[in-house]
Amino acid sequence: MTDAEDSRLQRRETQFAGNSSDLSNNSKYIVTPWEVKGNIDYDKLISEFGVSKIDEALQKRIVKHTGELHHFIRRNIFFAHRDLNFILDEYEKGNKFFLYTGRAPSGPVHIGHLVPWMFTKWLQDKFDVELWFQFPDEEKFLFKEELDLKDTEKYLYENMLDVIALGFDPEKTHFIIDTKHAGLMYKEAIKVAKRITFSTVKAAFGFGNDQNIGAIFYTAMQAVPAFLPSVLRGKKMPCLIPHAIDQDPHFRVSRDVIPKLGYYKPASIQCRFLPGLGGMAEDGKMSSSSGETATIFTTDDPKTVKKKINKYAFSGGQPTVEEHRKLGGNPDIDVSYQWLTFFEEDDAKLVDIYNKYKSGEMLSGELKAILIEKLNSFLETHQKKREEAKKRVDEFIYSG
Ligand code: TRP
Repeated sequence: MTDAEDSRLQRRETQFAGNSSDLSNNSKYIVTPWEVKGNIDYDKLISEFGVSKIDEALQKRIVKHTGELHHFIRRNIFFAHRDLNFILDEYEKGNKFFLYTGRAPSGPVHIGHLVPWMFTKWLQDKFDVELWFQFPDEEKFLFKEELDLKDTEKYLYENMLDVIALGFDPEKTHFIIDTKHAGLMYKEAIKVAKRITFSTVKAAFGFGNDQNIGAIFYTAMQAVPAFLPSVLRGKKMPCLIPHAIDQDPHFRVSRDVIPKLGYYKPASIQCRFLPGLGGMAEDGKMSSSSGETATIFTTDDPKTVKKKINKYAFSGGQPTVEEHRKLGGNPDIDVSYQWLTFFEEDDAKLVDIYNKYKSGEMLSGELKAILIEKLNSFLETHQKKREEAKKRVDEFIYSG
């Protein structure tokens, strides 16, 4: 890490973690669009970010239209929102919204990246709405020293395959690639940029004076797809943005600006993160495992998945079988169990696993075996669809 990066990091820490009054080791975390670290207290994030909790009343309102609740909502994986009631008000009046989400190509897609996109696909199906998917291929180029435009081009293609593989409807899904659609986007981006000051982005993102000017401008590009469909269609359209909570600072800034351009303030719905395989020790300290080993990529083969889970998935089990039988495991800190809350849709199955693991009837190895099986069967299908997607990329890229 360079000194400049180090000092930026410290500023961010002060801003996002240091403002909690009862800051202890247990609650130390950082959540910014550029970095997510530590043991995240999501309830605290709700008040720090100023988003609203998805409560029972709102869940009931959603289910009225969808017929069922996605397990990500049932389990509070999508846990917060801004202005979702407005989206539903308009929908009930017959004014359909469009969805907007995105992915900055910067590396291979891992299984955690899929979480907001899977939910977005569910929303597209249930509400029968359009999705605008942004690939800001300049973002990580601007923010990561080691990344050049050749890399982002390669990852752009690879990442598009993962998005297509999830089954989005090509008739209703439009990919926007910042460098490719620059002609369409730039005019709108400068309108946004003109209304955001350097001190606003400094405060929202923790930038210092040493930040490159491309990075300072970037949030204007991420704002554009939230109203671009309205520009293209010549009418105001409500926008709902499903995203992981770290992206909220972008939209906190652009929500102030977009109405000044004559469009609806975009609404959003936020999810928490899939924990890293290394998980969190009970004292809240971060695990030391990181890099390739700490996550599952969408292209990992079954053997690799098995090896990674068995070797790296943090276990809430006891050190010996005897102790485990007697004392039981702790599913609340067990990463394999946490992952199953994301990937096992069946509530009854999940409760059964929880109880058996907690009572000591189920061993860590058995729990891991369930997760491995679940992931591998998901990935088998995903990888097949990912191959098929290679022929279909052009159908998804917006062409007017
Ligand atoms: N900044 C996001 C990333 O780092 C990419 C992105 C662009 C995005 N537009 C978005 C994410 C809208 C969520 C919603 O990957």
